[in-house]
Amino acid sequence: METIKRTKIADVLKSRAFGSEVNVKGWVRTRRGSKQVNFIALNDGSTINNVQIVVDIEKFGEEYLKPVTTGACISVNGMLVESQGKGQPVEIQANGIEIYGTADPNTYPLQKKGHSLEFLREIAHLRPRTNTFGAVFRIRHHMAIAIHRFFHERGFFYFHTPIITASDCEGAGQMFQVTTMNLYDLKKDDKGSIRYDDDFFGKQASLTVSGQLEGELAAMALGAIYTFGPTFRAENSNTPRHLAEFWMIEPEVAFNEIEENMQLAEDFVKYCLQWALDNCMDDIQFLNDMFDKELIDRLHFVLDHNFIHLSYTEGIRILEEAVAQGRKFEFPVYWGVDLASEHERYLVEEHFKCPVILTDYPKEIKAFYMKQNDDGKTVRAMDVLFPKIGEIIGGSQREEDYEKLRTRAAEMGVPEKDIWWYLDTRRFGSAPHSGFGLGFERLLLFVTGMANIRDVIPFPRTPKNADF
Ligand code: 4AD
Ligand code: MG
Repeated sequence: METIKRTKIADVLKSRAFGSEVNVKGWVRTRRGSKQVNFIALNDGSTINNVQIVVDIEKFGEEYLKPVTTGACISVNGMLVESQGKGQPVEIQANGIEIYGTADPNTYPLQKKGHSLEFLREIAHLRPRTNTFGAVFRIRHHMAIAIHRFFHERGFFYFHTPIITASDCEGAGQMFQVTTMNLYDLKKDDKGSIRYDDDFFGKQASLTVSGQLEGELAAMALGAIYTFGPTFRAENSNTPRHLAEFWMIEPEVAFNEIEENMQLAEDFVKYCLQWALDNCMDDIQFLNDMFDKELIDRLHFVLDHNFIHLSYTEGIRILEEAVAQGRKFEFPVYWGVDLASEHERYLVEEHFKCPVILTDYPKEIKAFYMKQNDDGKTVRAMDVLFPKIGEIIGGSQREEDYEKLRTRAAEMGVPEKDIWWYLDTRRFGSAPHSGFGLGFERLLLFVTGMANIRDVIPFPRTPKNADF
């Protein structure tokens, strides 16, 4: 076959150079037709749309075309022509077909359309070849770009915080330990405690649950930074919204107080949603039609409305009123409770019908680093709650007072020897500052309309599952 420079299918579909000779390469989605002419739907991942290859059987011989089945990879030379059929602007009349890799119809699992998402999770190595996951992972890429652009345009610096750490930022004890010790022969001291002196780092180390503490150090020097990387939580919650490995974006800004932090969060999420509508419409339209008929409306709705600002105390009052009027929740509602997803979603979906930023939570249910309010009971926390998702962002103004922070850390059992470096920012040139963390996959749930967080990350890690 003659060598012609490859054109991506996304570009071929935009081209109107009828009569020109092109080459496309991709995976066969379907082949159908008659004894005289066949139509191959070819996809190369550059777009959700396939290009139609028109094959004159006589030219190639039926025997030669036999291995061109669903899943096979081929390279095609042919003439770009205006499509006669509906649904596509152009098609390619094949002059040459090279078969790169066959896919045995008896064993290739992606034969028919309409496999369940559960089944596709079991073949996560092949699911990117489906329309659904092609769409999701292209959107995932575009969202990552949007995030970097948003912060770059605003003068934030992308700061890399460590994956391996010796401190538990959230203090929730959900860390995965990192060790090179021989687990069959653990060295213990007289009291029976494990001796970490000989371990790789000479102390107990884990995968990070959040880059915030190191991010704060950077904000207190560079002014405004963000992190964007993987985080890990060994929380044993098998829900459609939790992963053991997820990606988090954490901006941290010197001199920002809670109000500016809330505005930043709202601007940030809206920028990402607008970017998705501007850059991923083919994929979003597909997901809208296939999975969630209200997806596009919901994206526009969030863009068009200001987020409601509400204190935790107000939120509890609204929930208590709902309970008094007969609304049933699985978990109890009272001041001091850590809100369950059903409570958050009631506020967002039923009461306000709008994204809500809940602030000033009881200090007992929040991390040690949050700025304490004068009431002695609450801290300057903020959670952004979204329809269908619940919490999408968690953040706060940070405690900048050295003594208050030290006391609170001690009260909450965070050893000073683990965070002395963090406390130092409050000893030397402390300043008010704020930040938050956006769960990347939670954002993707919202943008794609997918219902399970396992379906917006290529290879999900959840309790009892680390396949692929
Ligand atoms: O609310 P979280 O725990 O806050 C922090 O980690 C802070 N250090 C952030 C900060 O202020 N810099 O987590 C932040 C967000 C949540 O709102 C949620 O979107 C997401 O991270 N998240 C998870 N996403 C998927 N799976 C999990 N197990 C998650 N845990 C949190
Ligand atoms: Mg949170």
